[in-house]
Amino acid sequence: MEKVHRMIDNASIESLKNSIDIVDVIGNFVELRKAGANYKANCPFHGEKTPSFVVSPSKQIYHCFGCGVGGDSIKFVMEMEKLTYPEAIEKLASMFNFSLSYTKGSSDYSDAKRVLESIQTWYVKNLENNTTAKQYLLDRGIAQSSIQRFGIGYVPDGNSVMNFLNATLLPLPKAVEAGVLAQGEGGRYYARLVERITFPIYSTSGAAVGFGGRTITNHPAKYINSPQTKLFNKSRLLYGYDLAKESIYKNRKLIVCEGYLDVVMFHQAGFTEAVASMGTALTSEHLPLLRKGDPKIILAYDGDKAGVAAALKAAQMLSTANFDGGVVLFPDGQDPADLIAKGQSEAVAKLLREAKPLIPFVLEKTIYAYDLNDPRAKEAAFGAAKQFLESLSQIIKDSYIPMAATLLGVAPALFGKQTDFSRAKENFSQKKDDTELLGIIKTLIESPNLVDTVLDTVDIGIFGAYREYFDLLLKAEMDHPLLMGVQINEEIHTLDEEKLLYALRKILIRHYKQKLKILPRDTSLSSDKKMFLIRKLRTDIIPRLERGELVTYETE
Ligand code: CTP
Ligand code: MN
Repeated sequence: MEKVHRMIDNASIESLKNSIDIVDVIGNFVELRKAGANYKANCPFHGEKTPSFVVSPSKQIYHCFGCGVGGDSIKFVMEMEKLTYPEAIEKLASMFNFSLSYTKGSSDYSDAKRVLESIQTWYVKNLENNTTAKQYLLDRGIAQSSIQRFGIGYVPDGNSVMNFLNATLLPLPKAVEAGVLAQGEGGRYYARLVERITFPIYSTSGAAVGFGGRTITNHPAKYINSPQTKLFNKSRLLYGYDLAKESIYKNRKLIVCEGYLDVVMFHQAGFTEAVASMGTALTSEHLPLLRKGDPKIILAYDGDKAGVAAALKAAQMLSTANFDGGVVLFPDGQDPADLIAKGQSEAVAKLLREAKPLIPFVLEKTIYAYDLNDPRAKEAAFGAAKQFLESLSQIIKDSYIPMAATLLGVAPALFGKQTDFSRAKENFSQKKDDTELLGIIKTLIESPNLVDTVLDTVDIGIFGAYREYFDLLLKAEMDHPLLMGVQINEEIHTLDEEKLLYALRKILIRHYKQKLKILPRDTSLSSDKKMFLIRKLRTDIIPRLERGELVTYETE
């Protein structure tokens, strides 16, 4: 069955963009309050009580200073409604009674999609015809109904894949774009997945975007996943979400597990809220999707070293992002799929019921990583626990101080507020430097022609913690959340060219003075070389900078 691919005309997308206002768009979803030139709201993508979500009518972008999300109207609708780009365009058009025009025919986008759809149908058919693969799934306890529900298939040898693509006249470069083929040396095409069970990966709205493949011939790579493609953003998507979302919303519960098979088997046993990240850790990029429906999150990970470490990281992130939830570690090298296949669904249900809440889990794992009999280690454990508690909201933090104190065997008062004057002062000057640097960054975002001036003068290494911003500037990734945050922050002021040069001089002077302090202790240089550098800095470079000359930075 061939679907007709209708494409939204590009000009029509442009005129839609020009006719909508981001304040109207977002105002349809959240309550916006005017704040200066911008609008503010409680961020719809993470739970918060004081608004850090800002909408800029002049720049037509939004940004959340709390969780880092940001973008334009289309991006907002995509994230909010979990839609693809064309779906979001259509949604906006219908919201604003705008009539889109369509062109028939193909685009890069629809061609890659067509490859994914055709190959998925073919993988499924291959499984039906391959007894070895069918037997493998049977042995692993996977029911026929699960095979159908998850669209599990089989990919035979590489020649068959090439023959299939050639016979269906699907363009090979499009198959590369879809992540189905790769190109080797000399441009030769080859199938990324061979002799593997295939797990199709769907977007949240149910469009095929990629595959995971498990070897059944003991290939050293147990799993191979599709690469990141235009259609497949691995780091935001969770495997199984499209099938789990109804239960997630209804039961306000979401289970994150480690593997494809765990998801399939969880669903088979009736835990239809299960999803998995795909060969990567859970990261902050997953947060917007996890937040949808405001579920409680259960992390169901292997109890081995890697699993515990992954659970700890994820639990830290989730509690800092103010999620409710817990952790289950599966014992004895077994994973949820193994237990369910052995008919022990009841034991799995019990483990899930007894999940350890996120914050106590993090505190225990953090503190017990140290030998509390050793005073120095105990102090380090205290520091680590305190640092974690500081990342939580005040009330949550206060509620868990007694537990942390008990685990450590220290008085709760130790966690109380202490005003360390020297620290406070240090933070203050740090903050001043920050606004200065951020001012430079904002200036460069708005006047990219000045980027060269800056780079001719200084090595971006001297921007220290802000290096990432400059890397993004150089790559012109203006819609990156970090740069967007700077653009929209009214406390950061842009500089004219004269002020920019002045600020650069100041930064260089600070940098060289710092260098003067550490040079005498530098053991990598001969003492002659050291003396030379110190003299040059003291009598030449710094004075020239102070006189107003912008001395070019030389890497020593
Ligand atoms: N994974 C991967 N690449 C690998 C190994 C694992 O991408 N080489 C990902 C897969 O998404 C896999 C998950 O990590 O599903 C969990 O890996 P693992 O626990 O090793 O596999 P299981 O799911 O237990 O696989 P199986 O039961 O099939 O052995
Ligand atoms: Mn397993």
